[in-house]
Amino acid sequence: MSEFTFLKGSEDWWRQAVVYQIYPRSFADANGDGIGDLKGIISRVPYLKQLGIDAVWLSPFYPSALADGGYDVDDYRNVDPKIGTLEDFDQMIDALHAVGIRVIVDIVPNHSGDGHVWFQEALRSPKGSPARDRYIFRDGKGQNGEIRPSELSSHFGPTAWTRITEPDGTPGQWYMHLFASEQPDFNWDNPEVREDFLKTLRFWSDRGVDGYRVDVAHALVKNLKDGHLPERQSYDLSVMKNDGTDDLFDRDEVHEIYKSWRKVFNEYQPARMAVAEAWVHAHRRPPYASTDELGQSFNFDMLGAGWDVTKVRDVVKVNLKAAADNGTSTTWVLSNHDVIRHATRFGMPDDTDFFRWYGKNRFNAKVDEAQGLARAKAMTLALLALPGSTYLYQGEELGLQEHLTIPAEQMQDPQFFRNPEFGFSRDGCRVPLPWSRSGSSLGFGPGGSHLPQPAWYVDYSVEAQDGAAASTLEFYRKALGIRAGLVCEETWSEVKHLFNRQVFHFKRPNGWQSITNFGSKPVKLPKGELLITSQPLVDGRLGANATAWLK
Ligand code: NOJ
Repeated sequence: MSEFTFLKGSEDWWRQAVVYQIYPRSFADANGDGIGDLKGIISRVPYLKQLGIDAVWLSPFYPSALADGGYDVDDYRNVDPKIGTLEDFDQMIDALHAVGIRVIVDIVPNHSGDGHVWFQEALRSPKGSPARDRYIFRDGKGQNGEIRPSELSSHFGPTAWTRITEPDGTPGQWYMHLFASEQPDFNWDNPEVREDFLKTLRFWSDRGVDGYRVDVAHALVKNLKDGHLPERQSYDLSVMKNDGTDDLFDRDEVHEIYKSWRKVFNEYQPARMAVAEAWVHAHRRPPYASTDELGQSFNFDMLGAGWDVTKVRDVVKVNLKAAADNGTSTTWVLSNHDVIRHATRFGMPDDTDFFRWYGKNRFNAKVDEAQGLARAKAMTLALLALPGSTYLYQGEELGLQEHLTIPAEQMQDPQFFRNPEFGFSRDGCRVPLPWSRSGSSLGFGPGGSHLPQPAWYVDYSVEAQDGAAASTLEFYRKALGIRAGLVCEETWSEVKHLFNRQVFHFKRPNGWQSITNFGSKPVKLPKGELLITSQPLVDGRLGANATAWLK
């Protein structure tokens, strides 16, 4: 045990933590306006405690016009009045800390919301002014500047440039936004921008926040030197340069920023942690996760592995090796607020192109929900047994399926509106949680819900599952409880089943074993005390789509 560094309560608490993502607007609504709030979270602290998580990560709760679900931040050092107040925030931190749950908040440094005082000042200020220099304003092309400065497209489609009206009423300059037009990109070459984010990090750290999830951490610095403007049409990783010289993403210079953030994190005791949302080539992840910078970087590879044992095995091996080589720990992610819930993904054919297919076909999607849920539970159980931290997304502990049939007029996601040819929306995983079997929003709050809940949510409610031995909720509670007692040194070894490669079986150094059956025939369990299974055994064997833990 000499090299065993994981100690609860220490600086390293995050290395093998179970982090539960709360999407605040859809978790619990205390004031009855149909939008979740901090008081709602406070009211559910006993639930979170009973679930057995180590930390929560809160998606943005800052003042926002909600052009992108709160990722358009108008004030980085405040709470949206619809969600609560700074006093509520302090109470929430105290309530969570009191039961041993840490708090990670989202930081959105690539862009603000267009209601941010700086952007409003920029709109009022003349071309070339210091206020405009905090963002990326450029003249248009053409005789009257009417043609956008470059062909750069937005991640949400179509263009990344929006033209403003100058204070004198004439059509004016254009500003760059990699996401929605309400999300102007900051100019990270401007020292004021850099300083302001350090101030924000200190502001929340002083209030007791334990860590940060850094939104699009690989963007920030762009190649804008000597009048150059990016022309990129696709956001696919395959077109991103992998040597630090890409026009938009993962430029080498971005690491100076995170080095300066680390100095701030280390001003605190224990040092604040951070995890980068950095969609970069695998070999470029290490610096983000280094101890000089953010400390951890999301590994989203499991999202692309499907129910394919070869891919899963590969993703596990590659990421655990990379994390170990780099002195950090990896993250396991199956769901979040941006992707189709994994209980639904695993119920669709493995080769489904979720982005292109799902949008247009969502009303007649054929989902095998029972298979989806079985595979979701099996995969979750396997990942919880691996070294590294696991990020859970609210509602997955209820086995929630994606809400596929939200009518277009009730959609909120800018991706849905800006890319009509795909019709892809992230709203289906952001529907307010069902807490009870009845009430205007199934216990989410006393006043309805900002996205419609489908009728079948009743059966997934906490009330329907609480205490029911076979429920998904009780399964999560049991698994997390067992895991808490077993977390150990961050190593693992695969147990190879030479005659059945459809089995993924590994051991941790303390004898903890996890075995998953990706094949169709039941398999014999290894020797040991059976701790938990994701499905009942079949004649004493582990059936298809199931995982078991033994010791
Ligand atoms: C990633 C976030 O997870 C997503 O929800 C958001 O739309 C973009 N970044 C832009 O902030």
